[in-house]
Amino acid sequence: MTVSAGLVAASPLLAAEPGHFGYGKPATPAEIAGWDIDVRGDDGAGLPAGQGPVAKGGEVYAEQCAACHGTFGEGEGRFPKLVGGIGTLTHDRPELTVGSYWPFAPTLWDYLNRAMPMQAPHTLSADDVYAVTAYILHLNDIVPGDFIADRNTLPKVKMPNRDRFVWTDPRPDTAAVPCMTACANPDRVTITSTAEGKNLTPRTTGPLDSMQPK
Ligand code: HEC
Repeated sequence: MTVSAGLVAASPLLAAEPGHFGYGKPATPAEIAGWDIDVRGDDGAGLPAGQGPVAKGGEVYAEQCAACHGTFGEGEGRFPKLVGGIGTLTHDRPELTVGSYWPFAPTLWDYLNRAMPMQAPHTLSADDVYAVTAYILHLNDIVPGDFIADRNTLPKVKMPNRDRFVWTDPRPDTAAVPCMTACANPDRVTITSTAEGKNLTPRTTGPLDSMQPK
């Protein structure tokens, strides 16, 4: 009590805002900008200013990426391929690459900006991320050699696998609408079927079993 009374007395702001504990500080706009880096896939919302042509991306790639991903994106050793695999998604061993799998080009920018090069993420400038994004798209024959990636051009790139994603979850329980008024009385709800005995999930033991129908 003495301590908190002292803090309140020392800070008129805290006194006016009960519920604060006297530590921490409001995040500055610069701090928020440092964390607020997400880029939306379909329309590229959040992409920053800057731009990068394919040719410059080739230089960045040769220096910073080729050692792991191969000169042409073919992947060294067990490092991932970035190119090819189109048409393999239904095979037993599908090859998931930027060209065969990724639905949105802005997501490539976002991923590279967050995660690559693997041993030193967050070290590329926005321009270099744009350039190497353009280069990887070009390696996949998705954009021409004179393509310049920026916040306007990337969202317009149509990725080969763009239309093959299922955007609505087909499982029936995900379409349930929560009841907000005049709902069923929970005491009168009868459970008519469970996953028990259907070999879908391991048999439940313990308290959950009390929910099984008698
Ligand atoms: C030290 C090795 C290394 C270097 C250098 C490196 N990467 Fe990677 N990269 C990886 C590994 C490992 C993964 C897989 C990471 C995972 O799945 O979590 C990966 C994943 C990727 C992917 C996603 C592949 C996919 O379809 O899932 C892309 C794209 C990529 N890297 C691009 C780059 C670019 C561009 C550079 C250079 C700026 C770079 N990488 C440098 C090792 C590396």
